[in-house]
This record gives sequence, C-alpha cells and structure tokens, in this order.
Amino acid sequence: MSVGEIFKLTKDDGIGIVTFDMVGDAMNTWTDKAIMEFNELVGLLEKDESLAGVIFISGKPNNFFAGANLKMIAEIESEEEARKALDYLHDPFNRLSELKIPSLAAIHGHCLGGGLEFALACTARIAKESAATLIGLPECNVGLFPGGGGTQRLPRLIGYGAIELILRGKMLPAPKALENGIIDRLLPQDADLLAEAKSFLAAIIEGTADLKRPKQDFSQIDEIMEMARQGVLKATKGREIPGPMLAIKSIQEGVKLPLSEGLELEKENFVKVALSNEAKGSINTFFIKTLTDKAKSMMTKGFEPKPLKKAAVLGFGTMGRGIVIEILRRMQVPVIVKDIPEALEPGKEFVRKILEGMVEKKRLKVPVDDLMNLITTTSEYVDEFKDVDIVIEAVFEDIKIKEQVYKELCPAVSDDCIIASNTSSIPITSMSQYVAKPERFGGLHFFSPVWKMQLVEVIRGDETGQETVDNLLNFVASIRKRPIVCRDNPGFVVNALLFPYLTNAITYVEEGNPIEKVDGAMTSFGMPLGPIRLTDEVGIDVIHKVLVGMDVEQKTLSAVVNDGRWGLKKSGKGFFLKDGSVDPDVLPLIDSKGVKEKTEEEIQLGLFKAMLEVGKDLLDRHIVDDPRMIDVGMIWGTGFPPDKGGPMKWADLTGLSEEMFGKKFY
Ligand code: NAI
Repeated sequence: MSVGEIFKLTKDDGIGIVTFDMVGDAMNTWTDKAIMEFNELVGLLEKDESLAGVIFISGKPNNFFAGANLKMIAEIESEEEARKALDYLHDPFNRLSELKIPSLAAIHGHCLGGGLEFALACTARIAKESAATLIGLPECNVGLFPGGGGTQRLPRLIGYGAIELILRGKMLPAPKALENGIIDRLLPQDADLLAEAKSFLAAIIEGTADLKRPKQDFSQIDEIMEMARQGVLKATKGREIPGPMLAIKSIQEGVKLPLSEGLELEKENFVKVALSNEAKGSINTFFIKTLTDKAKSMMTKGFEPKPLKKAAVLGFGTMGRGIVIEILRRMQVPVIVKDIPEALEPGKEFVRKILEGMVEKKRLKVPVDDLMNLITTTSEYVDEFKDVDIVIEAVFEDIKIKEQVYKELCPAVSDDCIIASNTSSIPITSMSQYVAKPERFGGLHFFSPVWKMQLVEVIRGDETGQETVDNLLNFVASIRKRPIVCRDNPGFVVNALLFPYLTNAITYVEEGNPIEKVDGAMTSFGMPLGPIRLTDEVGIDVIHKVLVGMDVEQKTLSAVVNDGRWGLKKSGKGFFLKDGSVDPDVLPLIDSKGVKEKTEEEIQLGLFKAMLEVGKDLLDRHIVDDPRMIDVGMIWGTGFPPDKGGPMKWADLTGLSEEMFGKKFY
C-alpha cells in the first residue's frame, strides 16, 4: 500500500507504518508536494478501520524532518497566500492529532521546526540517541516563530519550559528532550528504532505506556512572558523584532484559550511575521550564511588545493598575533613569525595568553605548550622559510616597508609559495610588482580581533591567479573563517561601505547633531555600535590615516587625532569617557558647520544610503558580482543586523534600491 512518492504507508499486523523520504533532497522539508501527500495520507488513516495505531518514521539515515521550507516562506507575498499556506499545513496536523487511533513519531536525526510540530501532533514520540538527533523549534533564529502549532502544542505538553526553547530557538539532543518531556522514550544509538517503536505503540494501544501528560498550570503566564519579553528586548537592544515579539504574544494569549482557538491565534500572528521584512531579511541571512559556511565550496569545482603544512606570518603586531592564534588552534601546523627582536617575546606571550583563555573556556582541547612549540620566531629570512606553503604579511601599513619586505621575502621562499597581504588600504595590484610571482600573490583581509571575527576578505589583484584565489579559500577554510572574494578596491568591500558611513556620521555631528543622537540612531537601526563609537574602538588614528590615504580631508578627525585622541582603548582618550558618556573636551574639536539637526529616521536613512551608494558602485565596477557577498561582508565584518539580511537585501525589502537606482539588487 502506498500514498505517494514521499509518504509510503504499509501495514504490519494491524499497525500502519508510514515511511517518508524526499529522495534527492538532503532533508525532508514541508514543500507543497510533501504537504499535499501528507494531507492524502491523513485522509487514508482517517478512513482505514483496520488500523490500531500508526508509526511515522523517516527513510533518511540522519533526518526525521527538518521543518518548513524557508524558500517557500520567503516567497510569500500576500496575507491571503500566507493564510492559505498555513491552513494547508495546520489542517492535516489537526486531523492527525484527532485520529481515533494513537500515532507515534519515531525520531532519528534532525526533528526541527515544522518537523517537531508534526511530531507534536502525534500521540507520542520515541527517539534514538545520536549526534544527528536534535529536537527543537529554531524558527525564531530565522526571524520567524513556530507557526505550525508549535507555540500551542509545546507549552501544553511541557509547560513554561517551552518558552525558552521557542524564543531561543534551542535544539536539544535526545536525552535533553526526554528530560524536558518533549519525547516519551529514549533509545540508545544501536537500538532498532522501528522494532522499539512497534512495541511502544503496542503499549500505548493497550494503555500500559504510562505517558506523562500533566495538566499544565499557566496561572503565572503573564508575569513569565513579561520577563521573557524583557530578555528578548535586552538581546535586541530594545528593537521589537516581529518573530520573537509575536511568538510571545501567541504563547501568552494562546495558552489561555482552548487549543483550537490558540492555533487560530498563532496563525494570525504567523501571517504577520511571514510577511515582515525582518523575517525575509533573516531568511536571507540564513541562506547567505549557508553559502559561505564552507569556504571550500567557494573554490573552483574539482580544484585540488596545495597542502598547507607550514605557514609564515610577517609582523607580530595586533593582526599578526591574531593570525598566528588562528593558524595554531585551527591547523596545528608549524608557523614561522618574523618581526624585530623586541616584538617577538611580547607577541608570543600574547598568543599564549589568548590560547590559555580558550583552554580555560573549553574552546580548545590541545595543550597550549604543544601549540606554542609550533612557533619559530625570527628577525631574519632564515632557511626555514624555504618549505613554507603560505606567507601572510601583516607588517606596518606603509607601502615602502611592504616593498622592502616582499623584496627580501621572495628569494627566501620557494616558487610555489603563496603570499598574501593583510593590508587594509594598499591596493594588492600596486604591490604585486614587488613579488617574484604576482600570480601567486593576493590579499587576505582579516578583521580585528582575528580570533573573534569570522570574516576574511579574499582579494584578487589584477595579476592574482585563480589557483591562488582557490588556495587562499582553502586556507580560509583551514582556519574556519567565512570568506568573501572581491577584486582590488580601496577599502575592498567592508571598509569601502563603512567609510562613507563613518564620515557622514561625523558630518552629521559637525552639523549640530549630538554624538549620542547619531550613535543612538544607528544602534536603534540595529548596528552593534554607533558609528562614532565604532571609530573610537577601531582607532580614530586608523580611520584618519585611511581617509588621508584616500585623499579625504576630514577636519574634525584631524583635530581629534592631533589632540592625541586615538581612541579610548588606544591612547586613553577619544570621543568617549570610561563611563560611556561623550568626553566634553572633544566637543571644541568638532569642526562645527552650523545647525542642521536631523530626526533619528533621517540619520538612519542618510547613513544607510551612504552604504548603498558604495554597494551599487562595487557591483557596477564588478569588484564583486553578487550582492550577497556585500551582505555577508557587512553582517560578519561589521555586525550589520542579521534580521535585515544585509544592506543590499534590506534596500530591496524596503523598496530603497528601486527608489534610488530603479532596480533591485537581488
Ligand atoms: P601593528 O603595528 O600592530 O603591527 C605591525 C608589526 O609589523 C609590528 O610588530 C612591527 O614591528 C612589524 N614590522 C614592521 N616592519 C617589519 C618587517 N620589515 N618585517 C617584519 N615585521 C615588521 O599593525 P597591525 O594593526 O597588526 O597591522 C598590520 C597590517 O594589518 C597592516 O597592513 C594593517 O593595515 C592591516 N590591518 C590592520 C587591522 C587592524 O584592525 N589593526 C585590520 C585589518 C588589516
């Protein structure tokens, strides 16, 4: 007996066994086809009088059901469409939960989102322990909330514990899911899931299974949801993002109603969420994250990377130290570090301190001494450079120094050594004349602190070979960073978008908008730091130097830097005092240009538009060919709010790209 291509029903001794498998897809998800077949299947189960119970089990080795199909949700454009799609999913779930016979979800592998909502509509759940068995409702992590009954059925099953699981989008291993009451039986990894499910279902049918279904007491729900709300607002710095806000509303109001009315309320709220720009932005972030999660997948198909058995880092300053830390902890290969003699010991001490901190926090399991023994420090281009596979240069940002460094380095390394510069502002193409093999030279632009920031820009200079770009991507994969690939450009991608944003922010301050107001406008927009605070943190001198390099005269920044204000962390003074307030002594240094006060929205729009102008220009000049690369850069390089999906996506979602340029970026 069969139903369709995905869901197959067989009978075994009066028990229905439904196996499902979306052949060709890595995961089972609720596509239109899957829902349609499921609807038919439930219809069959409703009518079949010969069955005493039914088991649902996946045909995939490591996946029960991964949930909703995010692409489909992202494409929903009207309330009517959203409503229809929801009804279509809710209806079979409701009918499943009302079957006259008991139903059992037999879980192994991911059981997430709409997958868990499916399992929650069953009478009971049995799961097999394994690394892949993760159970939860992660929808809030992608700007949505569980809209297939999850906000109603999970709290009714496990009580208040559901709130955190839903709002944090937690995914639990099977033993934790048992502890929480989400599953009823836990099986060891080597158990025969189907056989165990059959005997559990038999016990349910006989009434001997002792399913724990305590009556939940929701008398404190208002107080608890208010606390949850405050927790969410703290995490979003006061921004009311529709996903979690409407999840809260659905749980809080829904559990006070009969289930059927609670489900209707959840649907109503989910329609609003699904249509929100924040949900579409978050889903975009999910997809561009997946796109760049594995740097290796961005290499040319079939490319065999050069093995990376030994690395060298030139310069043991802020960036060199960070790069060494990443090579040691991720690759565990020998690394030679070159700097002046005085810089070597402090560099090593710093690296050791950070690695020890990682061991303490259990983020690193290798003994620090073993890693430190992989470092060779030197002030000369010694013989050990001969068999180095990759060199990353992070010396002072001065083209004369870089020229000398490359001229000395090249005779010391082998012809097939890959060389990359971590410059933040010198064109890679302009330095390629100093290296012996320009095709084996490119840019690797890291962000500070290197061991915390995920992004690396891989820069293709005019002469950089594709093989080198691929090898650099392989290196980025080896140190587990997230790459974007771009062509040579002042500020590459991230700084190119960031600089006009920062300088315009200073212009707004010069025009009489208080620093707090300009920064506050952008933190309400969702940026982790306001632009002036960011300038202070990065180093006011650094920003100033880059602007000078770009021939931009910024009088306020010059005056602030000349006053010894390089930033609070760097020189003990900058725009801010230790308590976070603006330093009153910096105010006279502002090159005041009269009063042109702006509203918060005008500041947000003005600074956002400054980014977009650059983004458009980068695409027009083919610095990058894909707007997603810009969005990845801004989210993981600057903390651009993930629920906005990146600046280019947000411009599309808000209609700004069409208004400014007559077309969408995506
Ligand atoms: P830094 O001043 O902290 O360190 C530079 C190190 O290079 C110093 O220890 C210096 O002694 C050493 N050095 C100078 N000449 C050398 C030579 N001939 N051989 C070997 N070592 C030499 O500078 P930082 O911040 O680490 O910057 C290094 C590079 O990284 C620069 O090109 C900078 O633009 C770039 N960068 C900096 C970022 C930051 O946030 N600091 C972010 C991204 C890139």
